[in-house]
Amino acid sequence: MDATLPGDLFGNGVIAAPMAGGPSRPQLAEAVGRAGGLGFLGGGLKTPQALTAELDTMGTARPFGVNLFVPSAGEIDRDAVLAYRERLLPEAAALGAEVPEPRWADDDAYPAKLDLLLDRTPAVVSFTFGTPRWDAVSALQSAGAFVLQTVTCPEEAAMAAELGVNALVVQHPDAGGHSGAFLGLPPFAGTLPELVAQVRDAVALPLVAAGGVGTPDDAAAARSAGASAVQLGTAFLRTPEAGSNPVHREALASNDFTRTAPTRSFSGKWARGLENDFMRRFADAPAAYPVVHHLTAPMRAASVKAGSPHRTSLWAGTAWREALEEPAAAVVARFAA
Ligand SMILES: Cc1cc2nc3c(=O)[nH]c(=O)nc-3n(C[C@H](O)[C@H](O)[C@H](O)COP(=O)(O)O)c2cc1C
Repeated sequence: MDATLPGDLFGNGVIAAPMAGGPSRPQLAEAVGRAGGLGFLGGGLKTPQALTAELDTMGTARPFGVNLFVPSAGEIDRDAVLAYRERLLPEAAALGAEVPEPRWADDDAYPAKLDLLLDRTPAVVSFTFGTPRWDAVSALQSAGAFVLQTVTCPEEAAMAAELGVNALVVQHPDAGGHSGAFLGLPPFAGTLPELVAQVRDAVALPLVAAGGVGTPDDAAAARSAGASAVQLGTAFLRTPEAGSNPVHREALASNDFTRTAPTRSFSGKWARGLENDFMRRFADAPAAYPVVHHLTAPMRAASVKAGSPHRTSLWAGTAWREALEEPAAAVVARFAA
């Protein structure tokens, strides 16, 4: 297979990462597309109706992508979740919020959103947290989509290649937000260019490099190692077109935060964010996504409403200090190939 990305879809090789939970919104995807990059809608954590509404507002002038979370059927330790819930009660109460009863089963309406994308097929569809079935990949491709799979190591890359996807998003542990790892292997220990080079040796698919890309030099190094494009998340969080909440924006600009760290405390799945009090105190959260995500949702919302960065997730990659308050088009221009 040709290991480059089609230029009509991937423009100047800058992709604005799908960022579920607010930051990704049609305005951002449109602005990135207009600037010659590829914009994304985050389909995760959204009802099919809400995703339909976003699709309805997208123009047709430029291609864009839609990302879905693939649910996993992992075992959940219910006792550990219930014990964690007890510890969350005073945290939420301090903000006047509740901790809901656990929702043991939640597939994020994945089957319905997949059907939606087969009906209203965007130019690009990407998957994270797991892999779709091969027949979903081929159905999307028959409907006209270019299919991307997020992987975090050569082993996951080899599995994804077997499914027939068109290209891979190679996500490094420096990335902001949730890790897309699905084989449960230890996080990659080298640099992003080293990860890209290892995946390039393992599979013959075009690669998109993601995770901790903060400067044009970082992007150039990833491209030299074999990536055809870069996918940036954190770099877009402070743009006016993003839907990032004010507490998140302020924290990214603040000197109060000195490092990012991976945490399971907010969602039950590893994700990187600015390290706040809550992350430090709840470092031993159970591996139970999305059960923990739902338990902490009212607390996180109340923290944002109260203007406090201490009991909400502040997703950010290691290069967060390079993220500026500037138009999305300026970010695209800085990182263009
Ligand atoms: C706030 C936030 C939300 C994210 N949400 C998603 C998502 O919905 N789907 C996805 O595939 N990746 C998501 N990611 C990860 C990005 O796709 C990408 O891997 C990451 O942003 C790259 O690292 P960087 O933030 O250092 O640029 C998210 C990242 C952030 C910062």
